[in-house]
Amino acid sequence: MSVELKFEIRPGDLSGVEADLGVVLAFKEQGPAGPVGAAVAARLSEIMRGDRFEGRSGAHLLWHAPAAESFSCRRYLVVGLGRREEFTLERYRRYLGDALVSADRVGAERVALTLPDDSVGPIAPRDAALALAEGAILGTYRYDKYRSEPRSGRRHLRQITVATGQAPAADVKAGIDLGRITSDATNFARDLVNEPAGTLTPEVMAGIVRDSCRDSGLSVRVFEPDEMRRMGMGGIIGVGQGSENPPRMIQIEYTPDSKPSRRVALVGKGLTFDSGGLSIKTSEGMETMKCDMAGSAAVFATLRALPKVAPRVQVMGLMGMAENMPSGRAIRPGDVLKIMNGKTVEVRNTDAEGRLVLADVLSYASTFKDLQETVDLATLTGAVVVALGPMAAGVTGNDRAFVDELVRAAGRAGEAVWPMPLYGEYAEHIRSDIADLKNTGIRYGGAITAALFLKEFVRRGLRWAHMDIAGPAFGDKEYSYIKRGGTGFGVRTLIRYLQDASA
Ligand code: BES
Ligand code: MN
Ligand code: ZN
Repeated sequence: MSVELKFEIRPGDLSGVEADLGVVLAFKEQGPAGPVGAAVAARLSEIMRGDRFEGRSGAHLLWHAPAAESFSCRRYLVVGLGRREEFTLERYRRYLGDALVSADRVGAERVALTLPDDSVGPIAPRDAALALAEGAILGTYRYDKYRSEPRSGRRHLRQITVATGQAPAADVKAGIDLGRITSDATNFARDLVNEPAGTLTPEVMAGIVRDSCRDSGLSVRVFEPDEMRRMGMGGIIGVGQGSENPPRMIQIEYTPDSKPSRRVALVGKGLTFDSGGLSIKTSEGMETMKCDMAGSAAVFATLRALPKVAPRVQVMGLMGMAENMPSGRAIRPGDVLKIMNGKTVEVRNTDAEGRLVLADVLSYASTFKDLQETVDLATLTGAVVVALGPMAAGVTGNDRAFVDELVRAAGRAGEAVWPMPLYGEYAEHIRSDIADLKNTGIRYGGAITAALFLKEFVRRGLRWAHMDIAGPAFGDKEYSYIKRGGTGFGVRTLIRYLQDASA
């Protein structure tokens, strides 16, 4: 993990803040925006004109302030924000992340920043500060555990001073504090997803959960294979039986200090590696399949952050951990597995393993009668990536209002989550000739039939939403603060949803 960034809050404008580099935001065809101070604004406007810098979206202009001119920052980085009308906090997050990567690259240790001013419309200072901290901490994340030399990111950068203008310091501080929590949690999930499957086995994951929840107020229970077998969890046991690394189910419990407003379960798909099993993937298809535990990583990272966020919601995290490998002991196409809730499944394709694991975990969650809501996160289908592309998760479920609640929470958190239908008509595609269900449908609508399959294991009366994060969980292209590799997708949405649910 990179060194921690320190944040400092300064009322007033940028002109008095000493730093190695000052980041100044500029809208298209306009001078510097935000509280930068008249002298800095005037001088930078002149430089911008001279360099024909128009503030186009994402453009950078670096200016070294001559010593004789006594500016408080040694250099200024002007960042183009594009058109003022198009400003969003998501853009702000991205621009800041990119600006700080540039700042680090030129060796800046201390960077001064501003919050956007009122001219962009009504943005609460707390939300702006939250976006600032997220842009900074997520944007400078690097996974360099296995490198002999650290890459860019936070090689030099240590401190960020925020010139808050007129914004109340308490609001800005609250936003930054929350942003640090959400970003650290997201980066924690990124680290887990990036960890190679050779080292991060189900058992190792259970150990990490135990260690990191000690003294945190969270309680942890790990289910070993024998116990899961006794409980009738034929899905997760079946999927794991081809591997030398036996499966685990991990339960983490967060209890708020005061009476909870709801009781919620977060369920994560935790395939530490998905080779496809006997229905083996192509070598290209499994190149990044260490990411198939991203749902469980998001659940774990969220639970781990909850004592700090302190929502008034009772939250149970459930991680279904297994490794899907081909071997002489592996499940075969045609085998029938019995899930914990009693339903039987004919395995048609051993690569549709996530739903078999989740079937058991959702069945287990369904045994808690006082549970009102459950959300599962899973890198479940390639089909959802075909439908929505690599950026967005699809969400569906058995309760429209609940699905909408998650879509809204994601929007506020800055993650792309889009609603997907759950056409009951397609359920015929997962009927089996010999068992209650089969684990694959037809080629089309694969993300929907997968969700319909999961629905069979959610008890009546339990509001359920399913987020298929196969697209955004792992990137091979960098989108600003969303780096390549594990993205930690879902953590910010889940935290936001639980905060909103606590109100
Ligand atoms: N883990 C994969 C889905 C996946 C694909 C995740 C791409 C991330 C990126 C899942 O277990 C899987 O293999 N799904 C199959 C299901 C099919 C066999 C019905 C798929 O989508 O091809
Ligand atoms: Mn698979
Ligand atoms: Zn999988």
